[in-house]
Amino acid sequence: MALMEVVHYGDPILRKKCKPVEDYKKLSGLIDDMFDTMYEENGIGLAANQVGVDLNLFIIDISDIEEEGESIHVFINGEIIESSGESWFEEGCLSIPDIRLDVKRPETITFKYQDESGHEHTKEISGLLARAIQHEVDHLNGVFIVDRVTSTTKMTVDKTLKAIKKDALSKVKYRKAFVL
Ligand code: NI
Repeated sequence: MALMEVVHYGDPILRKKCKPVEDYKKLSGLIDDMFDTMYEENGIGLAANQVGVDLNLFIIDISDIEEEGESIHVFINGEIIESSGESWFEEGCLSIPDIRLDVKRPETITFKYQDESGHEHTKEISGLLARAIQHEVDHLNGVFIVDRVTSTTKMTVDKTLKAIKKDALSKVKYRKAFVL
């Protein structure tokens, strides 16, 4: 078991579009570590850039909430190709501690992705899984929940957000000092 450091809002890696996965052979160690990290942090989803890795990959485990059907997922090079309906749901984010916001998103999506072996799948997905996928796909495109709410709502969390950003930026400097 290896825990990775979850990077927070303000770290530049969370604002860039992640690179597609091309080499599937070396992913299993990263995916195992991401699951360990997500469980340690009590999250239900985690994108690779949230642990500082610039790759289009995310994991989801909603087994605590939805008992029916498959609930543990690895999605690689995912793309939402269609969406419909709308729903509101209060979302939190491991990269923005202590902030929860009501976010409006499509209820149903058609999602194209690859699995760990590189096989392609296309599925229509609704409910909590669709919600979690959209949150993680946002991460891989550099988008946060605070970008999905009105400026008035964002203002209510502005102070907390600034503090998180300041702390995240100081950690980036610290990390870079060791990468020579
Ligand atoms: Ni998040």
